[in-house]
Amino acid sequence: MQILSTLSKKLKPRPDDHHLGFGALFTDHMFNMDYSPEKGWHNSRIEPYGPIQMDPATMVLHYGQEVFEGLKAFRTAGGSIQFFRPKDNFKRMNRSCRSLCIPEFDAAQAFEALKQLITIEKEWVPRAPETSLYIRPTIIAMDPFLGVRASHTYRFFIILSPVGAYYAEGFNPVKIWVTRDHVRAVRGGLGEAKTSGNYAASLYAAEEAHRHGYTQVLWLDGVEQRYVEEVGSMNIFFVIDGEVVTPMLSGSILPGITRDTVIALARTWGVQVSERKISIDEVMAAHENGTLEEVFGSGTAAVISPVGEIKYEEKIITIGKGQVGPMAKRFFNAIADIQYGRAEAPANWIEKL
Ligand code: COI
Repeated sequence: MQILSTLSKKLKPRPDDHHLGFGALFTDHMFNMDYSPEKGWHNSRIEPYGPIQMDPATMVLHYGQEVFEGLKAFRTAGGSIQFFRPKDNFKRMNRSCRSLCIPEFDAAQAFEALKQLITIEKEWVPRAPETSLYIRPTIIAMDPFLGVRASHTYRFFIILSPVGAYYAEGFNPVKIWVTRDHVRAVRGGLGEAKTSGNYAASLYAAEEAHRHGYTQVLWLDGVEQRYVEEVGSMNIFFVIDGEVVTPMLSGSILPGITRDTVIALARTWGVQVSERKISIDEVMAAHENGTLEEVFGSGTAAVISPVGEIKYEEKIITIGKGQVGPMAKRFFNAIADIQYGRAEAPANWIEKL
């Protein structure tokens, strides 16, 4: 694939790696390519980071036909740069494309383009502990048209953001609030696709949770409002009586790559792990009888996010005395060791720049 590069004439000042936060700073360049029915995906190019000009009627603005991904590049102690399971992200992005009627792209070429972009931006991969370069590939519907149908034209772009911790709490337990009034997604809908609408659907309940002093919402299934699905924008895990349990992928849950990583690691450690339906009543009962040992979320942005408190209807339960549990710590450390090149990874998890 021929990628044309136009370099920025004026580079931005580099931020302090120790105060990055999440998702507010962007590098000097971005990758772009376009889709048209006649040419397919074409016009691959690296350009200075900047606004995308669009007609006010552009379809993505009206009907949300969009997919995106989140993955990271890490700086190893030796100074080299590596990616964690990047091919899985591009594979999932194509799966999301199918759900949103967006034409698929060549995943190997997209990864090649990402490597070229990061080669140009390599000084932006931060060096401070627990920092990384967050990568946001996105596809948007570009037809200027107000009828409801799939767009004929699209833009694929990749932007990069140097990041620290996702939550202000860092790796400290968050408080979560169970809602029965709102659902994030339903089976047969878009819940398992990484698309903007799922995040828009999460905002109202998240604001309500914040008003009650909670960091995140625990989502129940959209049909019975009984089975646990996700937490905030992450997958969720429970440790009950020594067993690691996560909701099985039901069609409305995002197939998280960190989720898959946790399951794979647990299996290699000989820890019992199951993907199954788990109801909020079972979680509350496990707390009642003293077998609910840990709860934590998993996602690319925060990796592992321990849960210290859950509010469900009038009940508030504290998990592990509100402290980070040993299993959450073990997964967090093991994943970080692999991502930063301190530990051997299973085949195909690490790709070097
Ligand atoms: C994640 O990586 O955990 C997320 O899904 C959050 C992201 C949308 C910022």
